[in-house]
Amino acid sequence: MTAFNAKHWRQWFRAFEAAEDQPARTPPNPTLGDVLQARLTRRQVLQGLLATSVLSTSPGCVLGENSATAGKAGFSYDFDEVPHGVSADQVVAADHEATVLLRWGDPLVSGLGPFDPRRLTAEEQERRFGYNNDYIGFLPLADDRALLCVNHEYTIAGMMFPGLTEKSFDFRPYVSAEQAEIEKAAHGGSIVELQLGESGWRPVLDSRYNRRISGRSTAMQVTGPAAGHPRLRTAADPTGQRVIGTLNNCAGGMTPWGTYLLAEENINGYFTGELPKGHPETVNHERMSVPSHWFFWGRFDWRFDVGKTPNEPNRFGWVVEVDPRDPAAVPRKRTALGRFKHEGAETLLAPDGRAVLYMGDDQRFEYLYRFVTRDAFDPAEPARNKDLLDHGTLFAARFESDGTYQWLPLVHGVAPLTAAEGFGSQADVVIEARRAAELLGATPLDRPEDVQGMPGGDRVYVMLTKNSRRTEAQVDAANPRPANSFGHILELRVRAGDHTADRGRWEVLVKAGDPARDDVGATFHPNTSANGWFACPDNCVIDPRSRLWVATDQGTDWDRTGIADGLFALETTGAERRRSARFYRAPVGAEVCGPCFTPDGETVLLAIQHPGADGAEHWEPFGRQASFDDPPTRWPDFDPQMPPRPSVVAIRRRGGGPVG
Ligand code: FEO
Ligand code: CA
Ligand code: CA
Ligand code: CA
Repeated sequence: MTAFNAKHWRQWFRAFEAAEDQPARTPPNPTLGDVLQARLTRRQVLQGLLATSVLSTSPGCVLGENSATAGKAGFSYDFDEVPHGVSADQVVAADHEATVLLRWGDPLVSGLGPFDPRRLTAEEQERRFGYNNDYIGFLPLADDRALLCVNHEYTIAGMMFPGLTEKSFDFRPYVSAEQAEIEKAAHGGSIVELQLGESGWRPVLDSRYNRRISGRSTAMQVTGPAAGHPRLRTAADPTGQRVIGTLNNCAGGMTPWGTYLLAEENINGYFTGELPKGHPETVNHERMSVPSHWFFWGRFDWRFDVGKTPNEPNRFGWVVEVDPRDPAAVPRKRTALGRFKHEGAETLLAPDGRAVLYMGDDQRFEYLYRFVTRDAFDPAEPARNKDLLDHGTLFAARFESDGTYQWLPLVHGVAPLTAAEGFGSQADVVIEARRAAELLGATPLDRPEDVQGMPGGDRVYVMLTKNSRRTEAQVDAANPRPANSFGHILELRVRAGDHTADRGRWEVLVKAGDPARDDVGATFHPNTSANGWFACPDNCVIDPRSRLWVATDQGTDWDRTGIADGLFALETTGAERRRSARFYRAPVGAEVCGPCFTPDGETVLLAIQHPGADGAEHWEPFGRQASFDDPPTRWPDFDPQMPPRPSVVAIRRRGGGPVG
């Protein structure tokens, strides 16, 4: 190992996690801070007294400690907690066992031979499981057969290919054209049939359903208000309706009509070059931090050089929908759902049958969104649900200091979303959803990640992962901590369980971090053990018993807590509301994504992303930057010839029965 540039390496990783991404602008909305300053002392705000004090004065309010004690007593989870710590291997609750289901490079078709990252080609990668698995969806086909849908968020060339970090830990200039093609091929999604056997779910090699959706070759149709708009047209696609590939597919969702949603998140990182001075996309691209130069694909492919293809970034940042039961289905970029850094897209049904999607925009000071379809889901006529996501209303959330929220519609023609503000049509509104939401007065949040509604219930959980750049002056009710390094969770209470309702109530469910540290201000239930608290909530899921599970992503900054990321059980009702417990600990350098329960609750699937990669220098037994040639762990294979591999694991209770 020669030139050692730890700073570049860290910056590179941080760029991916958006952990160090700059806010796209200074939040201009009257953050509630001003209002609050007038009504409460700063100390009260910092102590998080706001939500509870306001709510407890509201006789109609069903939130807060009163409702908590009215529920059932005790902790509804049953497992032996995993201790905090950091290790080369994963650790799962003692009475459970974890099986590796799919690893980066595993074949999805037969006849490929053993995986060797040193000899990988782009064509081969498109027939093998992709890199950095994130969202996991599970679509049952029969009692013992299902389709697994897995996102592949991004690639780390320095961990995928040998020798790249020899010259510098900033390996970007050394990635070859062929390696760039492999990287594109390792993005996107995988659809894999699973079969249930004696020892649990296993992939079915060569199932007719098995499919890779890639960032390199999969043709997608653009639909909705921005389809065909001049701002989406390029020399390669004069129609503005056909995009090759999907990128940075973070979380996602499965719809009630059985389709798989892939959310395009940090699309800014793929673009390099310089926009011509005075180009009309200047403001738009700046708002999305385009170009961010995390990848240098633009050296080989003009699509990713904004100087040469200024409209290409407008073709990414959408939610993609695909029918996993039809291997020939063309994925559709659904522009009605807006363009931003989509974390995920989880769907619930309103009482009238309309579909409601909750979506976070994961960057500091960005917004929470909701999309309500115009038409109702029709379970009897599947064909009628085919394009439900092309028609409906996009909203952004505003959180008030009185414990209420409201949804602000992003509708062209209704002031201020008019030509006077540069919005010529609904296409402009969805392309620049962030700017539209800002003009409407949406509340800038501390990096909205996954959002999960309680099926058939009235509660919605919003993971706000962190925002170390929020100043004391920018503190407000929904973002109660300045320099928020550990994140928090909002709980929305939807009026009568009708997710189309435009107003509701909310409170902070938990402020994360180590409760033993006075300076952190965490608010877990006092029965939370010394191993039970967590930091930086990212992904979440509600299990078949209506219990919340939270997966964490501290990024390279995990040394701020000294604990590895994991999966945690978090009680949301009863006397132990806010009690949390650690169920799973990821191997060093990994985050936990895609928690997904099978409908019987007997298996939980986890996507273990970037094992060995994040913050390896903080781990004392290793203490240096990680690379393909020198990783801190070789999880899950522990084969000296194999680098660590992002993998999906399946966890079951020994002897059967519900997990956790
Ligand atoms: Fe890709 Fe916001 O995590
Ligand atoms: Ca995430
Ligand atoms: Ca989720
Ligand atoms: Ca993440």
